[in-house]
Amino acid sequence: MCGIVGYVGERQAAPLMLDGLKKLEYRGYDSAGLALQHQGINVIKAQGRMDILEKLVHSREHVGNVGIGHTRWATHGKPSDENSHPHCDCSGQFAVVHNGIIENYLELIDELKSSGQQFASETDTEAVPHLLSTMWQGDLLSTLMAITPKLEGSYALAVMSEKSPDELVAVRHDSPLAIGIGDDEYFVTSDIRAILEHTRDVIYLEDGQFARLTPRGVQVFNSDGQPAEVFPVHIDWDSEAIEKSGYPHFMLKEIMEQPDALRNTIAGYLAEDDEIRFPDVKLDAGEIKDISKIFLVACGTAYHAGLLGKHLFETMLGIPTETDLASEFRYRNPVLQPDHLVIVISQSGETADTLAAMRESLRRQAKVLAITNVVGSTIAREAPNVIYTKAGPETAVASTKAYITQLAALSLLACYVSRVQDNKWDKFKTLLQGLREVPHLAEQFLDKHKDSVEKIAKDGQHWRDAFFIGRGLDWAVAQEGSLKLKEISYVHAEAYAAGELKHGTLALVEEGVPVIGLATQQSLIDKTISNIKETKARGAYVIGISQFPERMTDAADVIIPLPKLPDPLMPILSVIPTQLLSYHAAVIRGCDVDKPRNLAKSVTVE
Ligand code: F6R
Repeated sequence: MCGIVGYVGERQAAPLMLDGLKKLEYRGYDSAGLALQHQGINVIKAQGRMDILEKLVHSREHVGNVGIGHTRWATHGKPSDENSHPHCDCSGQFAVVHNGIIENYLELIDELKSSGQQFASETDTEAVPHLLSTMWQGDLLSTLMAITPKLEGSYALAVMSEKSPDELVAVRHDSPLAIGIGDDEYFVTSDIRAILEHTRDVIYLEDGQFARLTPRGVQVFNSDGQPAEVFPVHIDWDSEAIEKSGYPHFMLKEIMEQPDALRNTIAGYLAEDDEIRFPDVKLDAGEIKDISKIFLVACGTAYHAGLLGKHLFETMLGIPTETDLASEFRYRNPVLQPDHLVIVISQSGETADTLAAMRESLRRQAKVLAITNVVGSTIAREAPNVIYTKAGPETAVASTKAYITQLAALSLLACYVSRVQDNKWDKFKTLLQGLREVPHLAEQFLDKHKDSVEKIAKDGQHWRDAFFIGRGLDWAVAQEGSLKLKEISYVHAEAYAAGELKHGTLALVEEGVPVIGLATQQSLIDKTISNIKETKARGAYVIGISQFPERMTDAADVIIPLPKLPDPLMPILSVIPTQLLSYHAAVIRGCDVDKPRNLAKSVTVE
């Protein structure tokens, strides 16, 4: 959500900024801008996508070896040229880019206006450069340190000033920020993919830390102003992983990468001898045996992965489990005990609500385990126990390969707990066997059926409303399928527990309405099929997804057949056709698949 990149070094900053911002555009794309230091501060910014900023920058020469840039996802103030970052004070001597929200900005602005400051935007961020100029201490970092106690909310800030032309300063408070270390050049960024081309050595700032970047080096300070000990980490992401590599969209590339993502995640933890080892889980056998209740807490697609976890932990292990939306959990005063395990799930590891829910759980002394895809993310660093999904970088706003690896990680975790608790281990052995097969089956499915799913989705051009239905785990996947269709194709979609349809929603089913009927759960197949038939009898156009295609011939207009696996693992396969349907429906409707309207990857504000 919004992206920051800054540079100090010997190279021209403008092309580096533009390049970095393009890599961050997936985080926010309603406006972008940059500021360069060259005989004063030169700000270039514009509403709209990065190509507009790029044209502006290329329209004349822009020099400067120090720069900050930003790509925005609007929170305060509509997308416009004025509201784009960087923001400056009245004299234009300070330029600031910001991720997060300054919650007390209205009070700050009132105060600053009464001392004569004039504001050019409707943003919360603009308070910051005005504070810097009115509270100037003769040194840029000291001034930043002096103003931060006045700021409430979350912020990652990168700041430059013509009063101190060869440096950038930055601070992190509840919004991620990292420093990239190159050869006599340094970067600051909210997301390391902006700088990976230039360096793989990074320092993740801790909450409350400040940094000063000059061509001579980087200094990091704790919130009390004392120098901080820092531990640079080396990032080994393959740069191919953040390019489209010939695919028209990241989303399609990421769907096609799912077999490998599964392979890496499963092989990362499951040994030949069926032992499961989670190197970053520190809970001992006694603590695992004692778990009396599990909470799965997450947002959006990750929450849908949690629904599968509930099924595994509750129906297979017999541990009472709740799945909670992080935005609700954090404020609902959850009753937690030391023998409760809270599992937070987050691809980015930065989602504000999930992070807050995790901190609240730790405060309430529950055991906490995070499932995340990003090493070095805030959730990964603060969680006492971590399982990394090994999906590789996910760039499309719509999550696909991260979700599928979350399902694999949860299945492995259920097997692990079962082993430690000595609980129904035989049943879980079948799951492990299924997990070993699933990457290959996903690959086979994609090879064999991706074109036919594309043909089915052609009809998506005319869809106005769609229904995803299923029972049990199929209902969990239906919820994910419906979210995916909504978010990228803007087709109104609803997910319904198939048995619930006749309690109201069936009234909406009329001639030609698409119903995606998921029928993969052997134990529920007859009931599910009869619910699907109820929609067909009312004129629905039924797309059936099942590992029992022969059972669906009377129930569906078209059938997408799936390979066979044990019921609890079927979501890993059955979600794939729903992703492809959404993707192709969005493409045929002319939607911007990787950057759907109003959305951004990694939601670091509430
Ligand atoms: C939808 C999607 C979102 C995320 C949600 C949580 O396709 O990607 O619903 O799943 O914003 O994000 P993470 O997993 O990063 O916490």
